[in-house]
Amino acid sequence: MNAVVLLGPPGAGKGTVAEVLVGKGYKHVSTGDLLREQIRQETALGIEAKVLMDQGKFVPDDVVVGMIRELFGAGKPGDKFLFDGFPRTLVQAEKLDELIGSLNGNLDEVVLLECPADAIVERLSGRRSCPECKTVYHVTFNPPKEAGVCDVDGTELIRRDDDNPETIRQRLTVYAEQTAPLITYYEAKDLVHPIDATQSIEQVRAAVLEKLG
Ligand code: AP5
Ligand code: MG
Repeated sequence: MNAVVLLGPPGAGKGTVAEVLVGKGYKHVSTGDLLREQIRQETALGIEAKVLMDQGKFVPDDVVVGMIRELFGAGKPGDKFLFDGFPRTLVQAEKLDELIGSLNGNLDEVVLLECPADAIVERLSGRRSCPECKTVYHVTFNPPKEAGVCDVDGTELIRRDDDNPETIRQRLTVYAEQTAPLITYYEAKDLVHPIDATQSIEQVRAAVLEKLG
């Protein structure tokens, strides 16, 4: 198996970029989407996670690592995983290395989406997403054909509970404290490929495809 990590602050465009890579044979793994699915199904894990996610705090490492371990357990040798929002702490990064090593797999690339905080607030304030297929839109930058409705499956679009100004600020703080150190961790392994995520959606997707497609 091979893996690629999409790294970057909340709202940098990880999910938006991932959408085009799925067509290139990658299995998109967003721990945020997996957790929101648990919330939707009202599982014990989901109920616990929601409290933390609504405050912009991280879910415990063992919970997310457990989800990834389960996924790898059901995987096949030729799988290409695209991780979005995982790993987010040094502990998670070390666990990912261990898990990949135990499968004789390889972490090929860490794509770093660089985006300043002011752009992030604008992006997250206008984001809408499909609760069914998880497609991501923006009221101005990437609107659906019909306002409020998913192009793919016609489901009514929703705003995420954590996309309010206070929680966005908290998420940015937690990113700076706990996730940004992963840049140094992966630079030491010579894996980081930075991309200017302030460009248009098309330009960012093209830059990522050029690297990974
Ligand atoms: P998660 O769902 O991963 O959220 P996040 O990291 O905060 O990132 P987002 O999904 O908000 O942003 P994105 O980078 O995917 O941007 P998007 O493409 O949507 O995690 C949520 C929570 O779950 C965490 O806070 C935590 O509590 C928990 N969690 C998840 N994983 C965890 C882990 N590993 N460990 C512990 N806890 C975990 O784009 C954003 C908007 O911008 C959209 O509207 C889009 O249309 C627009 N846009 C995108 N690109 C562009 C562009 N180039 N130009 C203009 N607009 C753009
Ligand atoms: Mg996302």
